[in-house]
Parts: sequence; C-alpha cells; structure tokens
Amino acid sequence: MKKTLKEVVFSGVQPTGNLHLGNYLGAIKNFVDLQKKMECIYCVVDLHAITSFQKPSELNKSILETTAGFIACGLDFKKSIIFNQSSVSGHSELAWIFNCVARVGWMNRMTQFKEKAGQNKENASVGLYVYPNLMAADILLYKATHVPVGDDQKQHLELARDIAQKFNNDFNSDNFFPIPKPLIQKKISRVMSLRDGKKKMSKSEESDYSRINLNDTADDIKKKIKKAKTDSLPIPEKLEDLKNRPEANNLLNIYSSITNSSLEKTLNDMNGKEFSKFKDSLSDALIAEICPVGKKIKDLNKDKNYLIKTLKEGSDKASKISHENMRQIKNIVGFI
Ligand code: TYM
Repeated sequence: MKKTLKEVVFSGVQPTGNLHLGNYLGAIKNFVDLQKKMECIYCVVDLHAITSFQKPSELNKSILETTAGFIACGLDFKKSIIFNQSSVSGHSELAWIFNCVARVGWMNRMTQFKEKAGQNKENASVGLYVYPNLMAADILLYKATHVPVGDDQKQHLELARDIAQKFNNDFNSDNFFPIPKPLIQKKISRVMSLRDGKKKMSKSEESDYSRINLNDTADDIKKKIKKAKTDSLPIPEKLEDLKNRPEANNLLNIYSSITNSSLEKTLNDMNGKEFSKFKDSLSDALIAEICPVGKKIKDLNKDKNYLIKTLKEGSDKASKISHENMRQIKNIVGFI
C-alpha cells in the first residue's frame, strides 16, 4: 500500500528589487490564504538571486525588504516558516544531486533561461542555466506537495515533477518524493506590464511605469495608472470582446482581482465606460489595497533586527526538516 504524504506548501520569491503587483496577485496573496489551512514554508530565495550579479550591499538590503514584504502582505511567522534560502545548506546540497538527475535536454527546453540569457547565452552564468534544478531542490527538500506560483513558473514546476519522478525511479524509492502540484491563480495567473499588455509585469523591466510596486505611494499609483497603455475603445460588455485587447484585458483583470470579483461582474458594472473613468476606480482600488502594505513595509524596514530575528527563527525550523530529509536522501543515494 502506498503511504500517504503529508501536505506541505513551499514557495519562494527572489530578493531582487521591489516586490510588485504581479508578485502580490500572482503569488503572495495565495501564500497568505494557504497559511490558514496548510503547513507552509516560504523562502526568500537569495541563492537564486545571485544567478545574475547582485551588489552585496543591495542583496543584503533586498533580502530584508522582501522579508518585510512577506510580513506586510500578511504572512505570519507563527503560522508559516519564513526564512532565506542561503541559511539552509540543504538547498545547495540537494541541487547538486538534482544536477546529476536532470538531463541536459530538459534544461535546454527551459524558456526562462532563453529569455533571461538573451542573445548572449555564452556569457550567462552556469547558475542561471541550472537554476530550475535549485528550484526543484527548494521544493523537494521539504517534500512539498503544493507550490503556489504565477503562471511564468509553470515550466519550472513541470521540471521539478520530472526530477522527483526520475529520482524515485532511479533509486527505486517509490513515493519518496511527492510529485508537487502547482497552485496557479485561476483569475489572474499573469499580471502584465502597464506599458505592454503582451509582456509580464516584472522587476527587470526598465521603466518603473510598467509596474506597480508594493511600496509605491498613492501618487505614484495614480500617475502609473493614468499613463497605463489602453486602446481607444470603451469597456466592452462581453468577455469575447476583450480578445486582441491585451492592455484592456490586463487592467480589467487587475481590477477584478483587487476587488475580489469576477471579470464578468466587472464588465457588467463597467461596460460602456471610457477607460479614463475606469482608471479612476482602478487607482482607488489599488491605493486602498496596496498603500497600507507599502506603509507596513516601510515601518518594518526600519527594524532590521526584527527582520533578521524572524529569518533566523524560520531558518532554524527549516534546517530541522531539511536535515532529516537530507539524511534520508543521502542514504538513498548511497553516501556514507
Ligand atoms: P520570482 O521572484 O520571479 O516571482 C515570485 C512569484 O511571483 C510570481 N510572479 C508573477 N505572477 C503573476 N504575474 C506576474 N507578472 C508575476 N511576476 C512574478 C512568480 O510566478 C512567483 O510565483 N523561480 C522563482 C522563485 C522560486 C520558487 C522556488 C518558486 C525559487 N524557488 C520554489 C516556487 C518554488 C522566481 O524567480 O520567482
């Protein structure tokens, strides 16, 4: 009989720059909901961050700011384990084992590497290439069963599933690693750039007008939404009329997600309105939701010691689980 695996949630966010609305709606809001019903482990993935060069002083600051962001959005370190990746050595150890499980052909299919490495692949770090193996290690080190992520991480999750399966097969350890399930928001799996509705909202996009940062002021939000790209048509009545209108679709989706309603209801309430009018409602909704989070981030950032202490407590708890699981993994692999 197959033993049943305990349900564990794991997810991570890179400490590179400010958290933005994409991180919030696509991932962190879901982290907060899940901590009410499951055992959750949330990680500031600093080892992932250094796959492209980070100035040490900036990285240090960003790790604490991302931790502040987690707490400000509602993650509670009494309910969830919150820590930074580099403080638990098991992540790197298991990543090496997975480097030896994953196949080069699998890595070559990863679209995010191609996007991030761009034209100059030869000059990308080796870390960026094997990054998805580290991500699989993050998840499987805790035998996590559920992984809340935005849609852009789906392919990496599929790889983590393949690695878990291959490890279990290669080492005759049926069911040792669970096959982790992605939990992707149905309503808004990908928040798009405010400047280009075909590109995802991202920290690396040059223009700050492309994204809403969680620490933006009310004024910033108003300005960015006012400048957000739309088209000349009013808000349609039917969902199908949003096809081929990526910017309109994105803004209406953001509004629906922030106000916790369906896109159908938003269209019902707003159809016929000009975008300039709708943008006022969108700004108001964003300001009401995001500015209190931003204020909390600013307050928490003032208390560096509190943030360091929170991470340390989390990493002690994570280390305990990781230590026992690494012991079992090393035993399975044949290490002494
Ligand atoms: P990262 O740091 O790029 O993003 C953190 C989370 O935010 C989601 N996200 C978005 N969701 C919707 N729309 C967007 N525009 C948007 N931008 C970002 C991401 O999907 C992600 O869920 N490789 C991961 C971090 C990671 C991880 C892990 C995640 C490392 N190890 C293990 C899950 C499990 C990343 O770079 O996310």
